[in-house]
Amino acid sequence: MKKHAGLGIAAMLTAMMIVTAACGSSANEGDKNSKPASGDQKITLGFAQVGAESGWRTANTNSIKESAAEAGFDLKFSDAQQKQENQIKSIRSYIQQKVDVIAFSPVVESGWDTVLKEAKDAGIPVILTDRAVDSKDDTLYKTFIGSDFVEEGRSAGKWLLDKYKDADGDVNIVELQGTTGSAPAIDRKAGFEEIIKSDAKLKVIASQTGDFTRAKGKEVMQSFLKANKDIDVLYAHNDDMALGAIQAIEAAGLKPGEDIVIISVDGVKDGFVAASEGKINFIVECNPLLGPQLMQAVRDVLDGKEIEKRIVTEEGVFTSEDAKRELPNRKY
Ligand code: AHR
Repeated sequence: MKKHAGLGIAAMLTAMMIVTAACGSSANEGDKNSKPASGDQKITLGFAQVGAESGWRTANTNSIKESAAEAGFDLKFSDAQQKQENQIKSIRSYIQQKVDVIAFSPVVESGWDTVLKEAKDAGIPVILTDRAVDSKDDTLYKTFIGSDFVEEGRSAGKWLLDKYKDADGDVNIVELQGTTGSAPAIDRKAGFEEIIKSDAKLKVIASQTGDFTRAKGKEVMQSFLKANKDIDVLYAHNDDMALGAIQAIEAAGLKPGEDIVIISVDGVKDGFVAASEGKINFIVECNPLLGPQLMQAVRDVLDGKEIEKRIVTEEGVFTSEDAKRELPNRKY
């Protein structure tokens, strides 16, 4: 079973910036209206957020707002309510307003090239946070700051593989996927499958989206329970869906964490509470506190500094025992 040493926030913020790809570019290249961060003018940052679908997202939004205020930036913030068209509208409005930098967390991976080209033509640098785009042209954005979602899926799979290594008979797994087409849903599924395929008894018998929300997680788990008598494991792509599923499992007279083993991703406080009560067995952390890294990247881009194309956040994993110990220190 993997172990995690809980990271203190201060240590985490300094340790978080792990560079994985040395493909830095001159950040200001081609930006017509960029200005030095050290200048007199206040920096305007337009941020197009995905929505408010989960505890993770709330923590992410708070981190961005607080860090922008601390940095003295003028933050223009919009909530797309998990709709790509809303995010595109916000980005276009930031282009019209001639903000200095645009940052966003793309709700889905595809369909961004046109609006990203519009930003590039207007000379406004774009920074991706949290989620990636599948664009072939990586000059359309300066950097992507966020987790390695494939690795998160692998961590979930490795724990399961180890847990059932000596078990006899099939292990029936149900999966609650995140938002269809989103990077975390695609990657967490892929990473998990890559690992569990090495043991034929680990079988995903049902897999459906719960859109990263508690309500949908509950609803889909209810239908899983109706259709399948023998569920051994739930793999939820985030804590909120796992928490909704726990309600459905308890309503069906079963014990979450015992009758059905639960793995989830995020590590928000509510998830930690459930894990410390033994209702979630294993949590793969996904760090939402991206604000400080984003503000630093904004400054670096505007100052024309070299910036790495990919900045990966450092994360841990937590068993129920780890969660019990770590809960009092959990900040979000
Ligand atoms: O993109 C990160 C994911 O989005 C988080 O895991 C999930 O909770 C959120 O909604």
